[in-house]
Amino acid sequence: MQDPFFTNKLLDWYAAQGRDLPWRHTRDPYAIWLSEIILQQTRIAQGTAYWERFMARFPEVESLAAASEDEVLRLWQGLGYYSRARNLHAAARQIAARGSFPDTLEEIRALKGVGDYTAAAIGSFAFDLPAAVVDGNVYRVLSRFYGIATPVGTTAAKKEFTSLAQALLPADRPGDFNQAMMDFGATLCTPSAPQCPDCPLASRCEALRSGRTSLLPVRKPATVVQTRHLTYVYLRCQGKTAIRRRGPGDIWQGLWEPLTELPAGSSPLLLRSRVRHQLTHRTLIADFYLLETELPPELPEGYRWVPESELDRYGKPRLFELLLQSLE
Ligand code: ADE
Repeated sequence: MQDPFFTNKLLDWYAAQGRDLPWRHTRDPYAIWLSEIILQQTRIAQGTAYWERFMARFPEVESLAAASEDEVLRLWQGLGYYSRARNLHAAARQIAARGSFPDTLEEIRALKGVGDYTAAAIGSFAFDLPAAVVDGNVYRVLSRFYGIATPVGTTAAKKEFTSLAQALLPADRPGDFNQAMMDFGATLCTPSAPQCPDCPLASRCEALRSGRTSLLPVRKPATVVQTRHLTYVYLRCQGKTAIRRRGPGDIWQGLWEPLTELPAGSSPLLLRSRVRHQLTHRTLIADFYLLETELPPELPEGYRWVPESELDRYGKPRLFELLLQSLE
């Protein structure tokens, strides 16, 4: 969906208020690529000095490719995330070997250290390729302006914001649009205290209209780690034990487990108490019991008798394995 109001206001704002950054004065894909790699995890104030030093020492990709990795890492010193420097060096050699800087999105994306965002940035700034950048700034600007409450950090959000940004991108000025989104999100439509009184989009901003600038974008709720107690009873009768297969709708679907309740009137032996086991979204705390009987009791729904010697044929949760260990 094209939106001339959004796009025109944004581009006008960028022409007047955009930041003057040194890599915006060049169309050299090497210089632009270098800036984008540096800016991946570095603030502009710090990144600019490094970009200038790299450009002075390695004015074109061939000299960077010819350098030793040691020298590149030394020059990178202080920027952190050193895999970026190693990828930078490896990609420089990729580029030098092929003879020119790649000029399609797919080939740019194939360079070491270049993901979707960086490929779209390089492609649009250096080659006018119509690819929208999508990052936290873009999520914030679009979710506020259009009132989109899809939680960021989900695949649904990535899809939705990518296709929206892509639809808004003006085919004749993809680079300016992308730079404008970056600057607008970084300097005006900021995470806290956005400068709505100065905003050229304010008259149609859905978040501002509905008083939700501080509520958008919506964060994915942090997963609450719940604690769950459970009882595992190992029943032993005439060389057999009772297990059942767990059904769908809960943890451990398809795995086998022992009795999960003490049979009424039984006096089992407590093997271990409060055994902790961590799942991704849950802490389990289990008590293990052993119940030995001469005569087989009636089993709850879903249980079957299996020879103890055949237990290793059944897929078991880790906690059941721990119970078996405590039997030994
Ligand atoms: N962050 C990443 N790339 C950037 C760019 N080209 N300009 C400003 N900030 C950025």
